[in-house]
Amino acid sequence: MPEDNPQVPTRAEAAGTRTHLQRFSVAYEFPVVFTAGLFSPDNPVLADTLARLEPDRRHRCLVFVDEGVLAARPGLADDIRAYAGRYRDRMSLVADPIPVPGGEKIKVELHFVEDMQRKVFEHHIDRHSFVIAIGGGAVLDAVGLVAATAHRGVRHIRVPTTVLAQNDSGVGVKNGVNLYETKNFAGAFAPPFAVLNDIEFVEMLPPRDRISGMAEAIKVALIRDGAFFSWLERNADALVLFERPAVAYMIRRCAELHMRQIAHGGDPFEFGSVRPLDFGHWSAHKIESLTRYHVRHGEAVAIGIALDARYSVLAGHLEPGHDERIAATLEHLGFRLWHPVLAKRSADGQLVVLKGLEEFREHLGGELTLTLLSDIGVGVEVHAMDAALVEQSIAWLKARAGDGN
Ligand SMILES: NC(=O)c1ccc[n+]([C@@H]2O[C@H](COP(=O)([O-])OP(=O)(O)OC[C@H]3O[C@@H](n4cnc5c(N)ncnc54)[C@H](O)[C@@H]3O)[C@@H](O)[C@H]2O)c1
Ligand SMILES: [Zn+2]
Repeated sequence: MPEDNPQVPTRAEAAGTRTHLQRFSVAYEFPVVFTAGLFSPDNPVLADTLARLEPDRRHRCLVFVDEGVLAARPGLADDIRAYAGRYRDRMSLVADPIPVPGGEKIKVELHFVEDMQRKVFEHHIDRHSFVIAIGGGAVLDAVGLVAATAHRGVRHIRVPTTVLAQNDSGVGVKNGVNLYETKNFAGAFAPPFAVLNDIEFVEMLPPRDRISGMAEAIKVALIRDGAFFSWLERNADALVLFERPAVAYMIRRCAELHMRQIAHGGDPFEFGSVRPLDFGHWSAHKIESLTRYHVRHGEAVAIGIALDARYSVLAGHLEPGHDERIAATLEHLGFRLWHPVLAKRSADGQLVVLKGLEEFREHLGGELTLTLLSDIGVGVEVHAMDAALVEQSIAWLKARAGDGN
């Protein structure tokens, strides 16, 4: 038995039981690239990425593309084919890029996952070939699950095309689809082979989607990087106008902070109950489900951030005034920090949104752990929230929104 595999003495030993503590670790490493014009013939990023570990091979690729992206950029499939032709010494497409439904649809019907698995099977994608997903967070989640389970894991390259997917979910290590009406019930932790962010994709988004993903930047700035929050505050106009340098920096910095949390936060595969990147999310998830996802994730997160910022003040963690500053910045970006479902009560008179706390605990597993703020840029963990203070925080949001509904 190797020395670093200690034999653990147990009381059952006398009865002939032996316990060996098996232990190993696997280092993950993957490039996250920020570029423009990923499929321009003169952009070598994709070809270089494919060749990173095996430069002398011609790499086989199966590409799935979000139909929403194809609708916004009808020439994309041609561009991908032309790109593969230009770099034919390093890559080959095993099939034409395959369109897949965009948005939550691909995650709620399991047959889409099976259809994609079948394509992986039929085109003989093995553990050294590549599955490339181009799309929003939903498509990346579903294709990620396909890639993680086919042959127990084939190489997977993510090309995120929304703000949220580029600045948050794309650099994450999770995938999944919804099952039993539960979001992300069936999924796995599976780091990608590479993440390739192309700013031109997010510039094709409709205005509402451009803004909604920015809530994640505000979120991570508030818990980790006060200077970044000040930058977001100062550059809100440029972000609303979607000026490329500002948007590119917002996405990059937000992604970096998410990457740092995953790599250095001590719990990349979320075995514990602490989830700082879910600041503002307990109520956001509930708002999303109560509105049947008519409110976008980022829009719900913006409300959740404002609610928890106000709560942080009322509970004595955060200096008064910071809540106002945070809410004003979110509003400046265009978020509306109120939705009538916040005022909805169940038969027992309790605010329905409070049920989100227990659902959040179940989602994380273990003890309820929530992140609040003790300063701009500094999170603080708590294990309970006071219902009366949540009510007061919601009343504050309602009063700020200034309407009667
Ligand atoms: N795995 C994780 O760690 C993680 C983290 C956060 C969120 N998510 C998941 O991400 C999903 C949300 O992702 P999202 O916000 O990126 O939206 P989305 O994937 O739901 O896409 C929204 C819409 O935009 C379209 N679209 C995508 N890119 C486009 C583009 N460039 N131009 C025009 N239209 C485009 C899509 O077709 C879709 O209709 C949710 O399912 C959520 O659960 C996963
Ligand atoms: Zn989020």
